Amino acid sequence: MKAKILSASLTNITLAAKHLREGNVVGIPTETVYGLAGLAFNEDALMRIFKTKERPTFDPLIIHVAMIKQNQSALKHLVRSELVQDSKLSDSAKRAVELLTKKFWPGPLTLVLPKNPKVPDLVTSGLPTVAIRMPRNGVAQALLAEVGTPLAAPSANRFGKISPTTAEAVAKELGDKIDFILDGGPCEIGLESSVVAIQEDGSGILLRPGGIPKEEIEKTLENSLFYPQQISQKNRKKSSQGQASPGLLENHYAPNKPLKILPKRVDLLSAEEFKKAASDALAKRSKIGLLVFSGDVEKVELTVSAWTGCKITVRSLTASLSTEFSTDEAAKNLFSQMRALDESDVEFLFTEPCESKEGLGFAIADRLQKAAVK
Ligand code: TXA
Ligand code: MG
Repeated sequence: MKAKILSASLTNITLAAKHLREGNVVGIPTETVYGLAGLAFNEDALMRIFKTKERPTFDPLIIHVAMIKQNQSALKHLVRSELVQDSKLSDSAKRAVELLTKKFWPGPLTLVLPKNPKVPDLVTSGLPTVAIRMPRNGVAQALLAEVGTPLAAPSANRFGKISPTTAEAVAKELGDKIDFILDGGPCEIGLESSVVAIQEDGSGILLRPGGIPKEEIEKTLENSLFYPQQISQKNRKKSSQGQASPGLLENHYAPNKPLKILPKRVDLLSAEEFKKAASDALAKRSKIGLLVFSGDVEKVELTVSAWTGCKITVRSLTASLSTEFSTDEAAKNLFSQMRALDESDVEFLFTEPCESKEGLGFAIADRLQKAAVK
């Protein structure tokens, strides 16, 4: 492996910043997932991001900006940084941006806004809008301050694969292709940011559920978010308003092994129902991996093994032994547990459905849907 995992010391942050200013890419921690960063206004760096991730250039990137002083207007900052064109924003849209940035920045909210013509088309895939967020992770912020200019950073995984939530996971995904990964420890949230496009009338479209619960965004906007369940690639190309998001494509966040969502929580399933849901895997006598949201892992392993006569490896997304669990805790562990099962010797993955739609439950359910085989 080529990549060096660097502790987030001041010396290493300076080294990473220098590497970035020379047009290279670096793996960086954020509070959501690890990103693959490059200078947002440098075409070579942007090309490197797409090439390293094997990402098609029709999928636009998120720009990450440095913190501003409290009481400063984030929108004015974005305009001054030549990222956003405020003449294209109505007064209602400006108000919505002010409300959302005051409440959620720095943090896991990405806003899609009219772009300044100086933002390279590679960042936005030629769309008239640009996606921007202000991360709250301390290492990301220290790096942004040191670099002194915005950074484009998609999640640091190969296109369509599981997003990394540790420096080691970045190394497994991209370690042969990049020089440095800054280690900020496991990500605080574990799921990508919520992506919201602000409309002319000040309302928002939720392009990707994520680190901030939908209902919290709605409360702040005093308005419901429009949530386009699924937009096919064909329709996305047709839509010129930047309203659709490739993040809504179906084949995202997928493990290498097939993953299927069970119809119910394991403790509510009968042996027959489990065997029916897992019939493909059982016919091949495959080793099975099972993700549960809570409960006694060993007990579930014994029960399901007895039902099927197959070896079952169970991993839980939370430490809760009852059916109650925290969706924050489940979100934080989702990608790392999915990745751990994917890397083990199991051949088929199954997961319980996310029954709680509270808090981050909605975003977890979205990621499971996209990871699952259709
Ligand atoms: O939490 C995050 O957002 C992480 C960390 C690293 O910051 N980044 C991330 O980037 O998830 P990425 O590239 O994996 O996802 C970016 C999402 C994609 O779904 C993309 O389609 C959407 O943002 N996006 C970017 N620009 C857009 C635009 N102008 N209009 C609509 N969607 C856009
Ligand atoms: Mg991604």
